[in-house]
Amino acid sequence: MAKVTIMDHPLIRHKIGLIRRKETGTKDFRQTIGELAMLICYEATRELKLVDVEIETPICKTRVKELQGKKMAIVPILRAGLGMVDGMLSLIPAAKVGHIGLYRDEKTLKPVEYFCKLPPDCAEREIFVVDPMLATGGSAVAAIRMLKEKGCKNIHFMCIIAAPEGVRAMQEAHPDVDLYVGALDEKLNEQGYIVPGLGDAGDRIFGTK
Ligand code: PRP
Ligand code: URA
Repeated sequence: MAKVTIMDHPLIRHKIGLIRRKETGTKDFRQTIGELAMLICYEATRELKLVDVEIETPICKTRVKELQGKKMAIVPILRAGLGMVDGMLSLIPAAKVGHIGLYRDEKTLKPVEYFCKLPPDCAEREIFVVDPMLATGGSAVAAIRMLKEKGCKNIHFMCIIAAPEGVRAMQEAHPDVDLYVGALDEKLNEQGYIVPGLGDAGDRIFGTK
């Protein structure tokens, strides 16, 4: 069964409180989503494998730790996942970035695919799928299915707010994918929005509503 890590860092909890507020405008919302992506990335990369290497300091030879050879890729789910990319890249600047375009049909709440462009060697990479919201889980489940169809095996999922329904859907569909969640909320409402949530993440990042 996939590991679910809910963040308890005070900075993460404080910043999630800021973006939940309805009066937080586009500029501050977007900036805080980026900061949260960086903080959650720090926690989500805690278990990356290290190897010993010998180096020389200006003083003497010594052994240091280095990230094991596996390269990384960040895969935002469009649109809202884009808001997390720069924060991730500030910690993992050498990562490649793939894009998966999905939107939720407003009536059925089912994800509709419209774009998929991934690094050619994505199957060999450690992949971090990012999306601020995990609601029904339909979008994340579909995005990870698309990645697995391309041969990807080492996949992690990061979000800022999750509903219990989405966590369950991910655990059932992809028990091999660990989840890193900024905050676990109470439930979904009849329109499929997370309660208390923060509203529509894509619209708030891009100022489209
Ligand atoms: C939002 C969000 C997730 C999805 C979550 O995207 O960013 O991708 O909904 O809902 P789910 O877990 O029920 O699938 P949306 O479809 O609103 O598209 P957008 O990012 O383009 O605004
Ligand atoms: N997508 C969002 O942007 N917000 C929600 O609450 C649910 C899905």
